Amino acid sequence: MLGKSLLLAALTALSAVNAQNEYLGFNYGADKVNGQTKVYSDFLEEFEIAQKLAGTDGKFSSARLYTMIQRPSKDDPIEAIEAAIKTKTTLLLGIWCSVPTEHVTNEINALLKAIDKYGKSFTDLVVGLSVGSEDLYRNSVMGIENKSGIGAEPDQLVTYIKMVKKAIADTPLKSVPIGHVDTWTVWVNGSNNAVTEQLDWIGFDAYPYFQSTMDNPIEAAPQLFWDAYEATLQATGKEVWITETGWPVAGKDMNLAKAGVKDAKTYWDTIGCALFGNYKTWWYMLRDADPTPPETEFGVVGADLKPYYDLSCKNAKPVPSPVASTSSAASSTAASSTSAPSSTGATTRAPGTTFEVEPTTRGSSESSPTNTAENAAETTGVDTPNSGFAVKATIGFVAAQAIAAAFFLL
Ligand SMILES: *[C@@H]1O[C@H](CO)[C@@H](O)[C@H](O)[C@H]1NC(C)=O
Ligand SMILES: *[C@@H]1O[C@H](CO)[C@@H](O)[C@H](O)[C@H]1NC(C)=O
Repeated sequence: MLGKSLLLAALTALSAVNAQNEYLGFNYGADKVNGQTKVYSDFLEEFEIAQKLAGTDGKFSSARLYTMIQRPSKDDPIEAIEAAIKTKTTLLLGIWCSVPTEHVTNEINALLKAIDKYGKSFTDLVVGLSVGSEDLYRNSVMGIENKSGIGAEPDQLVTYIKMVKKAIADTPLKSVPIGHVDTWTVWVNGSNNAVTEQLDWIGFDAYPYFQSTMDNPIEAAPQLFWDAYEATLQATGKEVWITETGWPVAGKDMNLAKAGVKDAKTYWDTIGCALFGNYKTWWYMLRDADPTPPETEFGVVGADLKPYYDLSCKNAKPVPSPVASTSSAASSTAASSTSAPSSTGATTRAPGTTFEVEPTTRGSSESSPTNTAENAAETTGVDTPNSGFAVKATIGFVAAQAIAAAFFLL
């Protein structure tokens, strides 16, 4: 009896930590770095490059968007959708919300038009919909101090979320999971609970590089990342999707954090390789140099479309969440803790003091979706094939030990 329940516990642990085929991709802004609006061919190029990145086995096949509207139209669907259909790229849709209600209505109309125009070939690709992006951060004490641009109040967002839910209630997207993307400091701020309550999932943006009020050398990045993740999980009690993270290949020092290819690769290997395939992840970002790099450049490929470093995770030493691996290792005796956030270190940091987003690079202060932080650029790439994402093996190994222990006890 006891043995059986332990085995069950171990199997539960395995599926909890080893979720297969989680969505994986990049964030894609509506504009190029030079402010030019992206059109179909630009998105197509990016999505193709993402899927051909050397060493990634075609796994970067999801795209997070920030707006539904193709500029300069009022409410025509963004042409990224057509490129996604062409390349079978799954979509985490976004609706830009740091704007008056009338503009949000245009976003919703663009979504409805896309459903009409493309039907199932579009709706089958949609994995989620985010109502807003970092609106609460921009509206917070830190966002205002950092001149991050126009944000939105929680009650405004609640209104917009309800508008969106109502608008899609009779469409094929009626059961699409609705979320909101924001910095982790927003999620641990109880004043935003009314937003959290409306959501199916929490979009989590975290950049240890910008956490300049803390000791944030690259060596500390995994701890900063996982502390923020666990704190978000705990504060919201909802499924957390990793909607933005990354480390710049160029840029100025942010306290102890140094931008550069070496540290960007370390961040990819320690955090990225721990996430890919195990957590829904949209990395920031594919190409940040179209046509030329901004001062702080986040791309994994440069203007020449070549990866800056080995993306394969082959020789990586990923650092999984200490909470997840502790609980799965312990699952032969304590099954119930596997997927629940536990308290390891998660709440030791004061919320609101840690996350800085550089306004000049991330979110250039205007409220349009096209030139926000999110100015993703295009994809690039070249290359091909395959390699395994090593994390899975690591985590799987822990789970395998738990199972072995359970069998032993039988
Ligand atoms: C907490 O959230 C509220 C509502 O979004 C915001 O007004 C306030 O500035 C936030 N607090 C901090 C410290 O950022
Ligand atoms: C944002 O503001 C905080 C203080 O609130 C500061 O420490 C940090 O350097 C600022 N970040 C940027 C990028 O200006």
